[in-house]
Amino acid sequence: MTAPRQTQPGDDPLREVDMNRREFLLSSATAAGALGIGGYGVAASHVKELILQPASFALRGGQITNGMVSLSPDAPPPVLYGKQGKVMRLPVRNTLPEYTAMHWHGLRIPNAMDGVPYLTQMPMGENELFTYEFTPPDAGTYWYHPHCMTMEQMAHGLTGVMVIAEPENPGFDSEQVINLRDFRLNDDGSFLPAFTQRGAARSGTFGNVHTVNWLQSPTYDHAAGGLVRLRVVNTDTTRTYKLHLSASDARIIAWDGHPIEGEVPLPVKETPLLVGPGQRVDIAVAMPTDEGQTVDLIVKLPGQPHRAMVRLRAIRQSQARDLRELRPLPANPVAKPDLANAELHEFVFGWTPEGGIPDNGFCGTLGYNFWSINRKPWPGDAAQDVGPLAILKMGKTYVLRLRNESPNTHPIHLHGLAFKPIRSNQRKLPPLMTDTMLLLKDEVVEIALVADNPGDWAFHCHVIEHQKTGLTEFIRVI
Ligand code: C2O
Ligand code: CU
Ligand code: CU
Repeated sequence: MTAPRQTQPGDDPLREVDMNRREFLLSSATAAGALGIGGYGVAASHVKELILQPASFALRGGQITNGMVSLSPDAPPPVLYGKQGKVMRLPVRNTLPEYTAMHWHGLRIPNAMDGVPYLTQMPMGENELFTYEFTPPDAGTYWYHPHCMTMEQMAHGLTGVMVIAEPENPGFDSEQVINLRDFRLNDDGSFLPAFTQRGAARSGTFGNVHTVNWLQSPTYDHAAGGLVRLRVVNTDTTRTYKLHLSASDARIIAWDGHPIEGEVPLPVKETPLLVGPGQRVDIAVAMPTDEGQTVDLIVKLPGQPHRAMVRLRAIRQSQARDLRELRPLPANPVAKPDLANAELHEFVFGWTPEGGIPDNGFCGTLGYNFWSINRKPWPGDAAQDVGPLAILKMGKTYVLRLRNESPNTHPIHLHGLAFKPIRSNQRKLPPLMTDTMLLLKDEVVEIALVADNPGDWAFHCHVIEHQKTGLTEFIRVI
């Protein structure tokens, strides 16, 4: 069941992917478990080089936006398809004059492949190549983005989705990747400055053109009565999306890559799902049975009526599938925390008491500090000669108490390890395994983890303006 591709790159998705379009479609479908992908992707096994380069794209109406950053000249970064337990080799070449480094968000891979400048590798200069090679231990929905010149390159487009397929398709007819992000554009389609001092000191600077896979309100066709796996990924630099579906024949099956244990309520208009920057949610949707009927993913933006970010349209004869036919997603091999023997570490996130000038090495600075962890502002993308915030011992369980002392929400992200939110002073937490915890205003959350991946793991807010102005550090596992 191959859904028509709505993003038409016009030629090969990557300049140096050595295959023609037919092979490209076949291999992507194979990598995704013989599913229609309803997007634009590439099997990691076919990647020759991922080439960071300038791009142009009609983001706003017919207006071409120049000065974008992608992996091809005229299309969004492709969905990268891998398989759980199968090696992925991703040579990244930087053709931009600015430095970069590529990070694979949520993947529990060896530290040296994590793509954090100064911490796990040196920044990559112009024409440099760095070959990332790793075997994803977990299936699920992940993503990739630069961790050097993070603001500039992400705000200009360089955020892509990674799909790590389970060994077996749990019973979907097709899937749909939904890369949510905003761009900050003038009326003529040119970029506005990606950040502002005012924004960085508050909840961040918001984009004004809302896109899915770089398109405004796209429609994707899927088989009537079929079972679709939505992979919703918030790759925005700032916005926490408030989402719900127009249909009720749907179920949340995974969060931040990991299968949900038990049922969580489906978000509705009055109680939408909050998906913070960096977070992902997988939703199983049963398509309506009549051709032409639709399911919308709806967002509430401040001061605006609800709007459909993306529409799924039923096509052809009904497949007459039922959500109950789906096999449960197998749990990922994440170690269970041993809470009885856990050691506690405390972290406080807030404004900085004194805003020294940040030093981000070759990786770009916004020029000021507003934020802190444990009352210290940390250098953005250049963790040289600082930290770690905590040293964890291999194999031991830790509880990290995350305290938000600010009125802003912070998606707190830890690299290299998955953790379980166990307690909040404000709400009942769903049964999740995650890599990014959305901390609400004045919230205190405890998360538990087993320190089972050695290395220096970046630990930061995923509102990039916060990350770049003090709210970032790292945790060492030895
Ligand atoms: Cu999405 Cu430090 O990462
Ligand atoms: Cu990450
Ligand atoms: Cu933040």
